[in-house]
Amino acid sequence: MQGKELLIVTGASGGFGKAISMYFASLAAQKRGFYPILCCRNKEKVKELREYLDPLGLSNDDYAIFLTDLSSSSSVDELAYRIKSLNLPIRVLVNNAASMFASHQTNEEGIEMNMAVNFYAPARLSEMLASKITQGGAIVNVVSLSRKYVDIESDFLKGNPNSYNRVSGYSKSKLALSIFTTDMAERYPNIYVNGVDPGIMNTKMIKMDKWFDKFVDYLFRPFTLEPSQSLEAIHAACQNTDNVKGYIFTRKGCFPMEKKIAKHPLRQLIQTTVCDSIK
Ligand SMILES: NC(=O)c1ccc[n+]([C@@H]2O[C@H](COP(=O)([O-])OP(=O)(O)OC[C@H]3O[C@@H](n4cnc5c(N)ncnc54)[C@H](OP(=O)(O)O)[C@@H]3O)[C@@H](O)[C@H]2O)c1
Repeated sequence: MQGKELLIVTGASGGFGKAISMYFASLAAQKRGFYPILCCRNKEKVKELREYLDPLGLSNDDYAIFLTDLSSSSSVDELAYRIKSLNLPIRVLVNNAASMFASHQTNEEGIEMNMAVNFYAPARLSEMLASKITQGGAIVNVVSLSRKYVDIESDFLKGNPNSYNRVSGYSKSKLALSIFTTDMAERYPNIYVNGVDPGIMNTKMIKMDKWFDKFVDYLFRPFTLEPSQSLEAIHAACQNTDNVKGYIFTRKGCFPMEKKIAKHPLRQLIQTTVCDSIK
């Protein structure tokens, strides 16, 4: 591993995560000096992920799979320390893991679960690893178009159990992550911090666990993107070919973050919420 640079992705066993893992593993297979770290939550999915990458002919020493559940600060910290202890520079961190919760739930710190997994974990992990990212390296936060259609209040971390809605809970967490992306991009001028909006993809994420799922599968799923089709945005954000920061990358190119998000009144609060809690 000496002399290599890390390529890290969270949610590596998910629909988009597997495609990103394949991209990172293929860079490692080309002997370009990269060492992928694929972060998974579920032990049972590790074998499936290894089998998926098998055609590349890599050995188990050519990449690592780290098990981690990103729903609490302590597990995020543990992951960050584990990565730091490798003592290797990071070329890219892709914060891809996310979830959508059917009901209002909180983690052990009282943070609403969409916020915990989709905003707080990637923001905290990025902040903890930022000093290890090589000059010109990248942090890529996978967000969602839905960021544009919601807003958050100062109690955003806890949410409101009485007015909870699954889609808006998820969207608010992606808005918070988008605001943090802009903020971090300005605070770390030597690295590229950007978002990726992958479009609607044919993955587990769009399952609602409701009676209408089978209609959605039949009528809507055929028109969604395969995760591999959204990879182009990840390639561009990881390679920094556009030389932009605080942007959103899509399949159709990259665009500045929407003004109302970049200049959101809670931006400072969001930054201090994450940064002040890191020792
Ligand atoms: N699919 C879409 O239409 C769409 C649209 C816009 C944005 N996105 C974004 O794209 C990204 C990838 O989502 P996807 O569509 O590939 O969905 P997915 O297949 O459900 O993948 C989500 C991944 O996140 C992992 N994850 C969830 N909770 C976690 C936790 N507490 N700790 C660690 N890992 C956790 C999952 O682990 P398990 O494998 O163990 O479940 C899974 O690997 C997400 O950020 C999502 O918000 C998706």
